[in-house]
Amino acid sequence: MKLRSRFPAILFCLAAVLFFLPIHAAAQSYSFSLPPMGWASWNSFGNAYDSTTIQKQAQAMVSSGMKAAGYQYLLLDEGWWLGVRDEAGNLVVDKQQWPAIQPGEQAGDMANIVRYIHSLGLKAGIYTDAGEFGCSYLGPDTGGPRPHTGSYGHYEQDFLQFARWGFDYVKVDWCGGDKPNLDPMLQYTEIARAITDAERQTGQHLFFSLCEWGRQRPWDWAPGVGGVIEDMWRVGGDITDPIVDDSLPVHVQRKVGAANILKNFDDGIHPEAQHTGFYNDLDMMVIGMRGMSEELDRMHMSLWAVAASPLMVGADLTKLTPSQKTTLTNAEVLAVNQDPWGLQGVKAGESKQGLEIWSKVLSKPGQRAVVLLNRTTSSGVISFTLGQLGLRADSAARVRDLWAHQDVGEANPSFSQTVAAGEAAMFLVTGREPESKTYSPEPKHKASGVACPRCSVETNRREYLVFAHIQAKREVGLVMISYKKPSGAPSLVFMQVNGQPPTRVGLFAADQPVSAAVQAVFDTGRANTIQFWSVDGSENPVTAISVSAE
Ligand code: GLA
Repeated sequence: MKLRSRFPAILFCLAAVLFFLPIHAAAQSYSFSLPPMGWASWNSFGNAYDSTTIQKQAQAMVSSGMKAAGYQYLLLDEGWWLGVRDEAGNLVVDKQQWPAIQPGEQAGDMANIVRYIHSLGLKAGIYTDAGEFGCSYLGPDTGGPRPHTGSYGHYEQDFLQFARWGFDYVKVDWCGGDKPNLDPMLQYTEIARAITDAERQTGQHLFFSLCEWGRQRPWDWAPGVGGVIEDMWRVGGDITDPIVDDSLPVHVQRKVGAANILKNFDDGIHPEAQHTGFYNDLDMMVIGMRGMSEELDRMHMSLWAVAASPLMVGADLTKLTPSQKTTLTNAEVLAVNQDPWGLQGVKAGESKQGLEIWSKVLSKPGQRAVVLLNRTTSSGVISFTLGQLGLRADSAARVRDLWAHQDVGEANPSFSQTVAAGEAAMFLVTGREPESKTYSPEPKHKASGVACPRCSVETNRREYLVFAHIQAKREVGLVMISYKKPSGAPSLVFMQVNGQPPTRVGLFAADQPVSAAVQAVFDTGRANTIQFWSVDGSENPVTAISVSAE
C-alpha cells in the first residue's frame, strides 16, 4: 500500500534523474572550465588546411611541451567545410581533405580527425557561422569560394552532428548573421539551446565560443546565453589576418604587432561579466608569428594571462623557436591565467600616462597578479602601492617576477620597476587581504523595478534576493557569493548591480567550497544594491555575500 502510493513519486524522481543525468554527468567534468587553452588554425593557415595539417599541429602540441603545460584544444577554424549538404541537409565534407587516418575508417568522416586528436590526449574544436554564409563568402558576383558554410536553418542538425563526431568545442562566427541583420543575442540563444540539446542526446560536451566581435556588447548577454553553464565570447575584431603566404606584400595583410594586441586587450576588459566558466575572449594569440619579437611575445602573453582570456595560439606550432615555446609554457604565468576564480584583471592605476598597472585578484588570499605595462616610446619607472591592489598597506607584501622566476623584493607599501618602451613586466604579489564586509539579504521583494532589456532567458523573479546599502571605495570590487550547494545540475543565477545589465553566474557545487567569486562595478558615490534571481525560476540558492571594495 505504502509502496503503491509512492509509485508515482518514484517514477517522477526517476524521470527527473534521467532528464538531468546527461547534463549533470557532463557537469562533473566541465563545471569548472578555466579559460580554454589550445591552438586554432586561422592565423597561420586561413582556409588552406587539411587532415595532415591538423595531425602535425597536434603532434607539435605534444612535442613542444605545450600539452604538458595545459594546452589541449585544436580548433579547426573556417576552411574545414565546402558548404555542401546532402538531400537531408546533412553536412558533406571533402573526402580528400579529410581522408581515413586509421584502417577501417571512412574518408569524409570528421570523426577520424577527432579520434586522432583524442588519441594524443587532446581535445577537438570545430567552427561554423550563425548565419547562412561563412566569412570567406565573397558574394554571388565574385564567385566566393565557400558559398553556404553557415549553420542558419540547420542549428539542431549541425550541432548534433558536431557532438556525434566527438568534437569538444565549437566556435560560432557572425559573418552570415550580419548580412540579413539577424539579432546576435537571439541567434546565439537558439544556438545555445541546440548545443544543450545535442549534449543531452549524445552526452558529449561542446564548449561554446561565440564570435560576434563585440559589436552588440556581448559581455552584457553572452555569459550563460540560452542557459549554457559556460562559454566565451569575442570582444573585438580580428587581431590579424591569416598569414598564409609570406611572399605577399604587407599592405595586403594586416601586420601583426603591438597596436593590434593592445587594441584587443583594451576592447576586452569587462570584468563584471567574467567569472569561472564565462570568459571575455581577446582573440587567438599571435605569439611566434612573423612581426613578433621575444619582448612583444612576453607582453602579449602577460596581457592575455592577466585578463584570464582564453589562450588559443595562432602560430604554426611546428615552427616555434625554443624562446617562443618558453614564453607559451611559462608555468607561473599560465597559473595566473588558469586561476580557478577566472577573474579578469583591471587597471589599478597609472604612474604616468602610458605607464599602467594592471592587477588580477587570485583565489589564494592576499595574492594579486600584476602587469606593469609601458605603452610609451621610452623606458619608464612604474610604481604601484598595495592600496592600489586592494591589499592591506600596513604589512609588507612579497613580490616575485614571473618572467625571471625569482623573488625580487617587497612592496612596503609600494614597489617600482623600470620597464622598457613597449614592454610589460609581470609579478605575483603576496600580501594580506583587508577585512571584507558580509551582507544578508533584505526581506524578499515581490517584484522588481529594474529593467532587464537584454535578458536572453525568461526571467523569474519570485525568488529574487536584494542586498542593499553596499558601500564601495573602489570602482571594481570583489563579491563572494555564498550559496546552498545544489543537489543536481549546477545553478545559474542572474546577478544585477544597481541598474546595470544583469550577468549570469554559475554556482557549481561538487568539491568546491560553496561560494563563487565575481567582480562588480560599483558606484563609489552612493550606496549600491545587488540582486540575484535564479535563471530557471527554481529556488534561489544564494544566502549571503561578502564584499571587498575598500
Ligand atoms: C572571422 C573571425 C576569425 C576567423 C575568420 C574565419 O573573421 O573573427 O576569428 O574565424 O572569421 O573566416
